[in-house]
Amino acid sequence: MLDIRIEKTTNPKPIPGPENPLKFGTIFTDHMFIMNYTRGQGWHDARIVPYAPISLEPSAMVFHYGQEMFEGLKAYKTEEGKTLLFRPNKNIERANKTNERICIPTIPEEDFLQAIKAVVKVDEAWIPTRPGTSLYIRPFIIATDPFLGVRPSDTYLFMIILSPVGAYYPEGLNPVKIWIEDEYVRAVRGGVGEAKTGANYVASMKAQDKAHEEGYSQVLWLDGVERKYIEEVGAMNIFFKINGTVVTPKLNGSILPGVTRDSVIRLCEKWGVPVEERRISIDEIYEAHKNGTLEEVFGTGTAAVISPVGSLRWEDHIMQVKDGGIGEFSQKFYDTVTGIQTGKIADELGWTVEV
Ligand code: COI
Repeated sequence: MLDIRIEKTTNPKPIPGPENPLKFGTIFTDHMFIMNYTRGQGWHDARIVPYAPISLEPSAMVFHYGQEMFEGLKAYKTEEGKTLLFRPNKNIERANKTNERICIPTIPEEDFLQAIKAVVKVDEAWIPTRPGTSLYIRPFIIATDPFLGVRPSDTYLFMIILSPVGAYYPEGLNPVKIWIEDEYVRAVRGGVGEAKTGANYVASMKAQDKAHEEGYSQVLWLDGVERKYIEEVGAMNIFFKINGTVVTPKLNGSILPGVTRDSVIRLCEKWGVPVEERRISIDEIYEAHKNGTLEEVFGTGTAAVISPVGSLRWEDHIMQVKDGGIGEFSQKFYDTVTGIQTGKIADELGWTVEV
């Protein structure tokens, strides 16, 4: 159990009103959580303080070798005024897997959850309630030793910041256009692809820029070895509905194990919808599109929730999915996941945690 010191701001910011579109990741609440780690002492000095810049040495290791991890989860307000987190233990479990992979000390799961709940509680009034909005929670850890040699840091900062958000994509629930990348790769097995660390995101930026220039909003990555098997989108996992079966790439070490991905698979199982986690080649998707069995494509992610894909471009082929609108299943997953998250649909799977 953490002993969290709380220092409230004396200068609160105005909370955005319902007219604010809450562009993803641009507005931050009044407070943040911070905790230090020192080798030999462990995690210490848990505190909630006013949101403000922090001071680091230019030699802090995170700036040079990228030893950092992050997570993303959301808090929602129910109509009865309760604050709910969606499957926070999945994020915490994944956070500690990331920590282990990149040599950051783990955080006891109960302390991690306590920290999230405590900071969300302090800034609870910032949770937006309009449909499609939520309070995005961004926990992260950075290496802070002032040192230029390559080794794991001996000191770290664990922080949690909060941001009221609307849709991740400007398209909202309208289908996004996806560029299938065959030049650059995001990750290879044995690397850090399954960890939630900044390195995976910086690796994706060049291709993302290229895709944007061509009018596509996201990149779909192929495997880093054969450039043949579908991996993920970078900010989302990917699902296809082919001939009545929902399929998604099997976790293989280079794909991020998404919490929304897992939730969609569990819902398929609950509903008796055939669902497969397996290798999916781009040729299979191309063939399915050609023979008319590619029924729906959608991405899943905490930030993106469920995002329908309207078209996919692979080499010179443009695959238009359905009529470019949102598919029946994508809509059903979106309604169910957001319904459970906001307390409108009974949480039979025990996914929500009250703050
Ligand atoms: C999330 O979905 O929470 C993520 O971390 C993806 C991020 C690129 C916004």
